Amino acid sequence: MTGQQAGGGGEMPAGPPQGSGQGTPPAHEPQAPAPPGPPAPGPSRRSLLRGGLLAGAGLAGAGAVAGGLAGGFAGHAIADATADTAGQAEPFWGAHQAGILTGTQRQTVLAAFDLTTSDRGDLVTLLKDWTALAAELTAGESVTVPIYTPPGGGGADAYADATGGSTTDDSLEAYMLGPSRLTLTVGFGRSLFVGSGGQDRFGISGQLPEALIDLPHFAGDEIAAADSRGDVYLQACADDPQVAFHAVRSIARIAPDVATLRWTQLGFSPDNTGGTPRNLMGFRDGTMNSNLHPPADLQATVWAGPEGPAWMRRGSYLVYRRIRITLEHWDRLPPNLQQQVIGRQKLNGAPLGQPTEFSPLDLDKRDAQGNPVIPFDAHVRLAAPQTNNGAVIVRRAFSYNNGTTPFTERWPPWRQALEYDAGLLFLAYQKDPRTGFLPIFTRLAETDALNQFTTHTASAVFAVPPGAAGPGDWIGRTLLG
Ligand code: HEM
Repeated sequence: MTGQQAGGGGEMPAGPPQGSGQGTPPAHEPQAPAPPGPPAPGPSRRSLLRGGLLAGAGLAGAGAVAGGLAGGFAGHAIADATADTAGQAEPFWGAHQAGILTGTQRQTVLAAFDLTTSDRGDLVTLLKDWTALAAELTAGESVTVPIYTPPGGGGADAYADATGGSTTDDSLEAYMLGPSRLTLTVGFGRSLFVGSGGQDRFGISGQLPEALIDLPHFAGDEIAAADSRGDVYLQACADDPQVAFHAVRSIARIAPDVATLRWTQLGFSPDNTGGTPRNLMGFRDGTMNSNLHPPADLQATVWAGPEGPAWMRRGSYLVYRRIRITLEHWDRLPPNLQQQVIGRQKLNGAPLGQPTEFSPLDLDKRDAQGNPVIPFDAHVRLAAPQTNNGAVIVRRAFSYNNGTTPFTERWPPWRQALEYDAGLLFLAYQKDPRTGFLPIFTRLAETDALNQFTTHTASAVFAVPPGAAGPGDWIGRTLLG
């Protein structure tokens, strides 16, 4: 690609990509994995599966092996990035839930559950158990999982432990992998408050926040209901894919009779220590108003305040959209025209007509012919707070790849091929979707040049309550406690 090709108001720079230099500094010093327990004399089923025996019997050196590998790959960026964060834990307890502003991890597993109980006590027990388990998982501890026992008997795979309680085994696929910056974020869907028939499922319909809206159908939407909505949302993000998967799997396992998985969606993001990561369109994504580069006033933009129900204060609202990108179509568009679609330069992320990634958008700038340097239908022009009465959302982007699907062209010679089902997991946190996502996307859905390449295929809105303060507290207490 030449600088000339990439013109159109924003030349491609000759030098290397200009990173933000921001990188996400680890919030915490690396922590060692949970210390292994003492060796047990004989392999009883429980002690074996709780992890203590395995640790004593031979996996205790796993940390040393990992360290050796990292040393052997010194200077290899990918190996270093992985090894560096394995031992890092993100704080779980706090005023706000982790996983909203936390620097983007490299993997995500999104999940939504539907509740099969109508008992408020079940829901409370579930959230208490989930919170306690989430605290352990995010600390990188190998856990034995307490299982909810319905009044009539044991859960699906429960067995009695020595104290008479019920437990199930840690599946161990994340054993000794470390916390890997795991965050677990829980949200509540509208259907938790009001059932499809309008019923007050758990006696909390009066607490339904007005901000927890149902999104309307937008032009171009092809939403798959089975991959959308849900009673309870769980967002697991970690630098190791298996740590994230294990977390969702474990949380799903402890209440098989109360909550069932409705959908899951995997996503990924590249290492961002060198600057704002790129999405599958090849553009830096997260330069402005993202978890990586958040707006200055979080109180005004992200956190729910006194304008809504008291239980949501210090919480936030999530809008999730799975957005499929026709990568094959996009790849045929010359880079200079791609830049016109986005409104930024592809290589360094600078707004068209500006020198660096973090230069402000100059929406008034004209070229020699009097045309706007950032086109009227460019994505960033239409999405920017400046053109949306100051509306701000905080994006936390991941890419996804759900494989390929067969495709037959609808024109001669009716070529048959495979096309990607891949694109962007758009996660946007905000104080109120009615003043954030809704007005911004209503406009984008009508005129954004990006729409030629994108289709929204899944959608959900969740109320993400405040964090749990410390051991004994639980996510959802402000609503149900
Ligand atoms: C596949 C779909 C999408 C892609 C590939 C995409 C890509 C991008 C890129 C490359 C940028 C510029 C860099 C940055 O500031 O992060 C951006 C900015 C932005 N996008 Fe998107 N985007 C998509 C969908 C959406 C949707 C659905 C919304 C809905 C509201 C949205 C809202 C925004 C906002 C608010 C900004 C920041 C504008 C600013 O503050 O200057 N994007 N997007």
